[in-house]
Amino acid sequence: MDAYNGSGAGMTRQLKLGAFMRPISIHTASWRYPGGTPDGNFNWPLIKRLAQTLEAGKFDAFFMADHLAVLNMPIDGLKRSATVTSFDPLTLLPALAAVTEEIGLIATGSTTYNEPYHIARKFASLDHISGGRAGWNVVTSGNPTEAWNFGREEHWEHAVRYARAREFFDVVTGLWDSWADDAFIRDVENGVYFDPAKLHVLDHKGEFLKVRGPLNIARPIQGWPVIVQAGASDAGRQLAAETAEVIFGAASSLRDGRAFYADVKGRMDKLGRDRDGLKVLPGAFVVVGDSVEEARDKRAVLDSLVHYDSAIASLSSQLGADVSQFDPDGPLPENLPPTKGSQSGRDRLVEAATRNNFTIRQLAQRVGGFAGLAFVGTPATIADEMEEWLVNDACDGFNVMFPYLPGGLDDFVQKVVPELQRRGLFRREYEGKTLREKLGLKRPDNQFFRG
Ligand SMILES: Cc1cc2nc3c(=O)[nH]c(=O)nc-3n(C[C@H](O)[C@H](O)[C@H](O)COP(=O)(O)O)c2cc1C
Repeated sequence: MDAYNGSGAGMTRQLKLGAFMRPISIHTASWRYPGGTPDGNFNWPLIKRLAQTLEAGKFDAFFMADHLAVLNMPIDGLKRSATVTSFDPLTLLPALAAVTEEIGLIATGSTTYNEPYHIARKFASLDHISGGRAGWNVVTSGNPTEAWNFGREEHWEHAVRYARAREFFDVVTGLWDSWADDAFIRDVENGVYFDPAKLHVLDHKGEFLKVRGPLNIARPIQGWPVIVQAGASDAGRQLAAETAEVIFGAASSLRDGRAFYADVKGRMDKLGRDRDGLKVLPGAFVVVGDSVEEARDKRAVLDSLVHYDSAIASLSSQLGADVSQFDPDGPLPENLPPTKGSQSGRDRLVEAATRNNFTIRQLAQRVGGFAGLAFVGTPATIADEMEEWLVNDACDGFNVMFPYLPGGLDDFVQKVVPELQRRGLFRREYEGKTLREKLGLKRPDNQFFRG
């Protein structure tokens, strides 16, 4: 029985679904799970198959996160992590464009450790090659060790990274608008390839960047690839409200989800931007079972495969205090040393430990595995929870994270998607060719050649 309208008819808003693909799952032990794929990161036939399965499931987008460094953790933890290697997104996604027809292709590109001309050219190329399916996840690189790979001892300050990102966005979109959509007349008879009146030279000189232009590729099919972000801080949310069309959230409760949604959309109101111009997609870790117990058992097995060395390292860093000296099979001690990290983060973990009656080992394995928002249940209970977030203005859809691959993804596409479609919560057929059309986003006008 559908929790809210029981019929599916009349559901005007439908979920937008992204797939969070690294491509190994976000759960640190997924590569060890029975049926998981230890070499998934480099298993091109698997990655191709996964993208085609998501497309068959009518997903909006295949999203690839990225970091320009191996994660900085003690070697005993690092040697157990499957996230240390992955393809460069802007090499993998063009390859996926060639073996798919409809699914959006969102790649991460750092504004701190890239040049805007490169970013503009690569995403414009992906958009043309894919027939208008590109998206750019604009990040400022939260991982400080990336600085060491780009000739710097120190990482840029948070505020400076975001100020540079704002200028970087203006330069990249300005470069994409170098040519009017109809600039290339290719007049073979008179030997004129483009109309000079339809070319704009950006000649940008700003606080951080100096870029003349024009871009040496035609204006993207979508005008601009879809602009995606994942900021959480005040600066991150403000940049998203000013520039983004999709924001990935990290809320782990309905209440936090509603607060984040209201905050970001409220900022857009102040800017006079249409609220529908930005889709809020919280990350959701989804474990499917034929019963709730079966789904919970799957997750418990997955968490139990998180090796204690990496689990206790993750828990200590998230609690902001080293708890490795305490009895792993005992509860979290009442009097923990004061946190060096976020108090709210610690409170959420202590609350989770009490609520689930977790030992330190179980909490560490949960955190070491994946500690964010999780829907663990049957297709019906998962659809209930997703519907609850949608109808309570906590999201416009989700960035789905799969527990292990390919099985966790196949379960979602084969079992949850049909349930969402039956309720009218998700599309049965793709609408439109481009990612923008699928997300219900307008094609931006060219700022230099209006109308
Ligand atoms: C779903 C999601 C995906 C993200 N993907 C990336 C990524 O690929 N690369 C990256 O450097 N940061 C990534 N981030 C981190 C964000 O860009 C951002 O740094 C983080 O949310 C902290 O927010 P703040 O930068 O506003 O402080 C991601 C965050 C989320 C929630």
